Amino acid sequence: MILKDMVVLITGSTRGIGREMALEFAREGAKVILNGRHDLANDLKEQLEQENADYRYLQADLAETNLKEFVTDAWNCFGKIDILVNNAGITKDKMFISMKEADFDQVINLDLKIPFFLSKEMIRKMNRQKSGLIINMSSIVGLHGNMGQSNYATAKAGLIGFTKSVAKEAALRHIRVNAIAPGMIDTDMTENLSDRVKENIVKQIPLGRLGETNEIARTAIFLAQNDYITGQTIVVDGGMTI
Ligand SMILES: NC(=O)c1ccc[n+]([C@@H]2O[C@H](COP(=O)([O-])OP(=O)(O)OC[C@H]3O[C@@H](n4cnc5c(N)ncnc54)[C@H](O)[C@@H]3O)[C@@H](O)[C@H]2O)c1
Repeated sequence: MILKDMVVLITGSTRGIGREMALEFAREGAKVILNGRHDLANDLKEQLEQENADYRYLQADLAETNLKEFVTDAWNCFGKIDILVNNAGITKDKMFISMKEADFDQVINLDLKIPFFLSKEMIRKMNRQKSGLIINMSSIVGLHGNMGQSNYATAKAGLIGFTKSVAKEAALRHIRVNAIAPGMIDTDMTENLSDRVKENIVKQIPLGRLGETNEIARTAIFLAQNDYITGQTIVVDGGMTI
């Protein structure tokens, strides 16, 4: 897939992995629709302008938005969407024994159910154009589990099964569905960890460092450019789960 003039919608793209994906797709010549909960920050606006990005910004808290209207608004930005990246995600870590139902529900809602609804609305529209790509942001935690993250692991494992099943259904109309499972990437999500925890994690990574957001963004570009890959979960973790 040549990315020039392709339209990409990335949820939760004002910081971290999503932000870097938006910039990297723009560098490749794609038109980008960003989403965040607040006004678009000046520094991101400036960065997008520096990249000569053709972009739109959709302000929406996905947990409180009519997702059908959100997809329609996104579609109408450029009259089509070629790639949806279900990137927005949260963690609410607690040991399982003290995890409240609300901690479980909130994470399942944002990290699993919202990608379900967005993908469904998107595929309905992509079916008519007979092409498209959905990238679901999973995690190595969805493959291997993690202490204190039973809610997050459930959502991210769910996304992998979801990716495989929808890939089988959507292939008929040339729509591909893939997932990326990052290890520990240096973002606000991992910023909250103490230095001691981070040091211990780095010790378990054969490549000896946390990953960078650009390494995940380049994986999304790779998936966008390879028309024969579908139903896959690409692990990008510095060897952490070998
Ligand atoms: N950082 C990592 O090590 C890592 C590892 C594996 C998977 N992931 C996954 O990658 C994705 C991006 O993670 P990140 O590290 O950039 O996280 P981050 O916390 O820096 O960014 C998450 C983004 O989601 C947005 N978001 C959260 N709730 C939202 C809502 N209700 N509506 C709209 N947007 C909302 C946030 O505003 C933010 O832009 C997530 O799905 C995460 O689970 C991250």
